[in-house]
Amino acid sequence: MTTYETMPFHLETERLTLRPWAASDAAEFRALLAERGKGTRTVEHVRTSIAELLTATADTGIALLPVQRRDEGDFIGYCGLIIGRSTLEEPEIAYELFRHAHGRGYATEAAGAVLDAAAATGRKRLWSTVGSWNTPSLRVLEKLGFERDHVSMEDNGEVVWLTRPLP
Ligand SMILES: CC(C)(COP(=O)(O)OP(=O)(O)OC[C@H]1O[C@@H](n2cnc3c(N)ncnc32)[C@H](O)[C@@H]1OP(=O)(O)O)[C@@H](O)C(=O)NCCC(=O)NCCS
Repeated sequence: MTTYETMPFHLETERLTLRPWAASDAAEFRALLAERGKGTRTVEHVRTSIAELLTATADTGIALLPVQRRDEGDFIGYCGLIIGRSTLEEPEIAYELFRHAHGRGYATEAAGAVLDAAAATGRKRLWSTVGSWNTPSLRVLEKLGFERDHVSMEDNGEVVWLTRPLP
């Protein structure tokens, strides 16, 4: 089995900082999850989810990281690597931002830093799986140099699989 370096967990871009989860992110993370409109979790439940993310990272060496604006210092979402529908060798890039932060290039900027972090682990390829309806996410991936590989069908619709080699 190939082993990989642990992903760097502190990333800086021109406007953003990505850093590890803290228990104090629970309220903001809860608000972000609530924006999806699939019900509200308790803060306690969200704290448990954060603990699970940290455990998963300790096991795998890859992470979803909170995204913070450098000037405002506010939490605007997360971006990082997950196994998702793929594998630890070729993980998925994932991101989600508060609606108020959309449309300013933040997802593309954060994901660009995550691509570099993924390359630093020694990995050679990343994937992303996106609902075919999700034009903004597909556009982010296109800007990052991902290409469509295939499509799969799930209970809640068509999923596009995109991939990108790492330098
Ligand atoms: C996907 C998401 C992270 C994008 O965040 P963002 O910071 O707005 O993304 P960016 O600003 O970097 O890029 C978005 C691109 O999509 C384009 N776009 C947005 N809405 C669009 C629409 N309805 N039709 C066409 N293009 C659209 C933007 O114009 C921009 O492209 P451009 O730079 O060529 O103008 C954000 O929409 C989100 O959090 N969505 C909910 C969670 C989600 O879907 N996550 C991905 C799951 S796979």
